[in-house]
Amino acid sequence: MARSVIDIPDLSIEELDRLMDTAEDIMAHPDRYSERCRGKKLATLFFEPSTRTRLSFEAAMYELGGNVLSVTGAGTSSAAKGESVADTVKTVSCYADIIAMRHPKEGAALVAAQNATIPVINAGDGGHCHPTQTLADLMTIRREKGRLTNMTVGLCGDLKFGRTVHSLIQALSRYEGLSFVLISPEELKVPSYVKNDALKRRNIPYQQSTNLEDVIGDLDILYMTRVQRERFFNEEDYLRLRDSYILTPEKLKGAKQDLCIMHPLPRVNEISVAVDDDPRACYFKQVLYGKFIRMALIIKLLEEGRA
Ligand code: CP
Repeated sequence: MARSVIDIPDLSIEELDRLMDTAEDIMAHPDRYSERCRGKKLATLFFEPSTRTRLSFEAAMYELGGNVLSVTGAGTSSAAKGESVADTVKTVSCYADIIAMRHPKEGAALVAAQNATIPVINAGDGGHCHPTQTLADLMTIRREKGRLTNMTVGLCGDLKFGRTVHSLIQALSRYEGLSFVLISPEELKVPSYVKNDALKRRNIPYQQSTNLEDVIGDLDILYMTRVQRERFFNEEDYLRLRDSYILTPEKLKGAKQDLCIMHPLPRVNEISVAVDDDPRACYFKQVLYGKFIRMALIIKLLEEGRA
């Protein structure tokens, strides 16, 4: 089985740090990397909507000199005829060298990795995890704060279905001196398995709150998230919860001057556009760094496959 990245624990802390180092080097010297994947093909299999993840993977592969094969939307491939994920990736393994896959079902990326003969990168599986968004998030924090240690990290919004939150907690919980503030409505709290595996097991301090204003002044990082409409069983609940938290310049008055405001995007209404001009807003930097860190990951997995 080829080396795949399905979840954050698939990468050691040293590998996370080296991927960020490589991404920094690519940013500084893009010409040195422009032929690294010449002759290689990335297949992007996206069975759920995406703007950033798919396009950044594709831009990443083109900037490495490689090519891209793409499936966008469940209706445009033989998945619509009932083909399984296993058969799909066995087929794609005949045409491509590496796969980035997004799928609405939790665990689909793992099934893909178990059946493909080429590396599979999980580009988001249902409400489970989204490891490459976390790589972009870690790189953003490291660049903005100069460290990944000794901080208070607030995560706010839909912490139940927000897969980027689950992966980010898993990753950050491996660095020293962090504490977490988990801000959500009662119904959208971080799942127990994430709290147990990442926080309780390591004795990492965390508190849960329903009120952003009460805690905003304590935070070094504020990671806002969208309420994930597509994961709700009924529209009524979504409508009731969707505007639970809206970050505005007014609410930021109580925040630290060096707060780092993050969001994996897309945003709906969680951050007022008036916040975009605040120098603490980092969410479009996350978008940019996402391309470079995905370049670093593609290089790593393809080179390990050759070794
Ligand atoms: N952050 C993220 O996954 O964005 P997309 O859904 O646009 O890929």
